[in-house]
Amino acid sequence: MIQPVELSLSSSEYELWRELIWQRSGLYFPEGRIRSLRQALEERRRFLQIKNYAEYYQRVVHSVEGAAEWKNLLDLLLNHETSFLRHQPSFEALSAYVLPQIIETRQKQGVEQLALWSAGCSSGQEAYSLAMAYLEYCAAVGFREALKPNLALQPGVSVFGSDISQRSLEKARAGRYRTHEVRFMPVHYRERYMARIEDGGATFYRVREEVRALLKFNTFNLSAPDGSWPAGQDVIFCQNVLIYFKPDSRKEAVERLCQRLNPGGYLFLSPAEIVGVKLAGMQQVRLADTLIYQRLD
Ligand SMILES: C[S@@+](CC[C@H](N)C(=O)[O-])C[C@H]1O[C@@H](n2cnc3c(N)ncnc32)[C@H](O)[C@@H]1O
Repeated sequence: MIQPVELSLSSSEYELWRELIWQRSGLYFPEGRIRSLRQALEERRRFLQIKNYAEYYQRVVHSVEGAAEWKNLLDLLLNHETSFLRHQPSFEALSAYVLPQIIETRQKQGVEQLALWSAGCSSGQEAYSLAMAYLEYCAAVGFREALKPNLALQPGVSVFGSDISQRSLEKARAGRYRTHEVRFMPVHYRERYMARIEDGGATFYRVREEVRALLKFNTFNLSAPDGSWPAGQDVIFCQNVLIYFKPDSRKEAVERLCQRLNPGGYLFLSPAEIVGVKLAGMQQVRLADTLIYQRLD
């Protein structure tokens, strides 16, 4: 059998693609990642039976099908890996330190609704984890009717999950996961917040309706210009997303996230994602194995 020949990517083609991808998504493919870039291009080129990468570039940039094709390519370039309560130290800090503090402050300020944002939420696990952590906290401190905003007891909550990938967001909205995707979730979380369903001989776990009602999912590109960013956030998680950005774009995105926090709000990044960056108007909260900033008043 004749093996199909894989095309090589010339250095000028590589630069063209690298620039396009960076401009459109903030994602950066340094020389060490040429291989994965070429693999993605090759997969689409072959699927579409296009002669070479230059022709494929024309298709993505200049043809009427370009916008749809860009999404297909982007999905191959993105890393969607995620899990519930993924970075344990961050979720511990959220439950033990941030939620008690921010709920008390917002209650005193007469705020009715906390706004939490999972920026780059992939298929939704991080966003659902934020809602679940909030409900767990309310249950632990004995707030009754934690799901209903009741100012006398505690502010309500809304969680926004965003991602650049529409395919990931479809899964997030469905809130339906396979057994292996919930395997590391604490059992009591799974029992309280997920419903087990059998479908076509397979077992799934679906996030319960009362949790799903607290969430909204929408596309949002973290390299988008300033004006469109959702403001008024009390807690933002942006973990394992900016690591794939060019250092300059990473800093810019973090600064924009900081500006979208309410005074006193918190930004959770992944440790080591941003190193040695001073963020104006923010103070680092020093909790073990975390990278958390609080916006000053
Ligand atoms: C590795 S996942 C991390 C998911 C989750 N935050 C976590 O830590 O488990 C990275 C996600 O970031 C998203 N992403 C990458 N570039 C993005 C951009 N420019 N704007 C928004 N989301 C982006 C990807 O689509 C992917 O779903």
